Amino acid sequence: MRKVSVASILALVSSQAIARDDLMMSARQIFRPIPKVLPAIRDNPVTPEKVELGKKLFFDPRISVSGIISCNTCHNLGTGGVDAGPTSVGHGWQKGPRRAPTVYNSVFNVAQFWDGRAPDLKAQAKGPVQASAEMNATPDHVTKTLNSMDDYVGMFKQAFPRDTPSVSFDNFAKAIEAFESTLTTPAAPFDQYLNGNASALNDQQKAGLKLFMDKGCSSCHRGINIGGQDYFPFGVVGKPDAKLLPTADKGRFVVTNAVGDEYVFRVAPLRNVALRAPYFHSGQVWSLEEAVGIMGEVQLGTKLDDKERSDIAAFLNALTGHLPNIEYPMLPTRTNETPPPSL
Ligand code: HEM
Ligand code: HEM
Repeated sequence: MRKVSVASILALVSSQAIARDDLMMSARQIFRPIPKVLPAIRDNPVTPEKVELGKKLFFDPRISVSGIISCNTCHNLGTGGVDAGPTSVGHGWQKGPRRAPTVYNSVFNVAQFWDGRAPDLKAQAKGPVQASAEMNATPDHVTKTLNSMDDYVGMFKQAFPRDTPSVSFDNFAKAIEAFESTLTTPAAPFDQYLNGNASALNDQQKAGLKLFMDKGCSSCHRGINIGGQDYFPFGVVGKPDAKLLPTADKGRFVVTNAVGDEYVFRVAPLRNVALRAPYFHSGQVWSLEEAVGIMGEVQLGTKLDDKERSDIAAFLNALTGHLPNIEYPMLPTRTNETPPPSL
């Protein structure tokens, strides 16, 4: 008789356990793990030179006209890629109308901003620089600042060797996009689960995942980013409180002008959501359990009980991945030609 090793019996038993895990099978139909290989970007091949340059630009406050606001001010990579909230505070202490979404995994979203008005990250990066309530600068201020420091000019030449001039507002945006495309957070417990490790989620998280699918959350929050793919009204069944959904912000309506798009927003991506309270575009809800309860009521017409809310929140905690280890970059030194800050 052929000898069967203990290891092969164990392998067989565990593969049968995986095959029997219907929950895992159903989850795999709806969600995708974060890929281990970084995504390619359309019209902007990612090179180490671009990423390194983009990282410096992301952290450089001299891009802003005040010289004190960088992308990292509102998308702090140490705090989940967001600011303190509720909504962002930018140039001259001005309060913007919306919460800063995270830059982590933003490369997987179908489009950028809460209303999806920018098709990709390079188009997006030009927005905050010029927004008066954010960095309040101009493309001219940006190129003048960058051209004033030889180190930057050299880095642009290396990153964009075919372009003359290599320092341009377009290339500034492309370098930032390249850096942002590296800000993915793989290997969350949920990714490990989707990849076949049945014990990567605990029982409560599995119960939460089951509820998330059975109650209908996953009809909108799906794909790699558990959201970020579609647009829906914030308030499908019930109208959220005006504090959560201020009437002045009509969401996607401003992009499409279609009446049906009033108060429609991009489905929020839920990767690392446990790291970045307060929630919703208005940033008014500080507890994840409360945000889950609100979603149940206004999107699905379902009143979730305490246990259901905490089970779903436990599942959402399993979406926290491995954040990249980011070393704060040393930035080129200013020269006499560098525009001085203007507050
Ligand atoms: C949105 C990157 C500067 C506040 C975004 C998004 C990205 C991004 C990728 C879209 C994310 C998504 O939709 O999921 C950047 C970069 C910056 C920068 C590269 C520097 C060039 C800032 C600053 C502030 C800020 C300085 C705050 C003063 C916001 C807000 C949104 C946003 C409030 C959402 C706006 C809306 O939906 O209308 N940013 N950001 N950002 N960012 Fe920034
Ligand atoms: C936002 C969870 C159902 C569409 C959110 C947020 C959470 C969440 C935690 C806030 C994320 C953040 O601020 O970063 C859930 C749960 C659901 C559920 C647990 C099931 C109980 C749905 C459904 C839809 C949907 C069914 C679509 C019909 C949206 C949209 C937003 C959002 C559009 C953004 C709202 C805004 O403008 O602030 N969801 N969701 N959600 N969800 Fe859901």
